[in-house]
Amino acid sequence: MERKEFLKKTFAMCGLALIPTGIIESCSKQSFAGPSNVNFTLDLTNSANVALKTVGGALQSNGVLIIRASAATFDALSATCTHAGCTVGYDSRSSTVVCPCHGGTYNPATGAVISGPPPSGLTKYTATLSGNILTVTS
Ligand code: FES
Repeated sequence: MERKEFLKKTFAMCGLALIPTGIIESCSKQSFAGPSNVNFTLDLTNSANVALKTVGGALQSNGVLIIRASAATFDALSATCTHAGCTVGYDSRSSTVVCPCHGGTYNPATGAVISGPPPSGLTKYTATLSGNILTVTS
């Protein structure tokens, strides 16, 4: 094998070896910003939404984690962890949003990262109660 042919084959193999790295790298830069154009309602008299009748209760709907912060206020955040896309949940004992995958924690009122590997906070949405109807919007 001539030197020129050897180098050509070697670089071709190296190029193939780098493709998976490139794919992995692009995957690791994937965005987990949460849903956009959010606009839905929840009827709090519906049994499926009973968790939101109690302060500290929470549920997930349409990719949004909704937490009853007080009698009149609700927090609504993306339910998708910004680190690797796992579904987060609310821990009423610690009053934090937690990710079960790598232990990331977030502030439920703001969505800001408290600890762990998440690179950014959770997208925050608006949740407004009118009568028994909770409206969640972007
Ligand atoms: S996916 Fe949530 S902390 Fe890693």
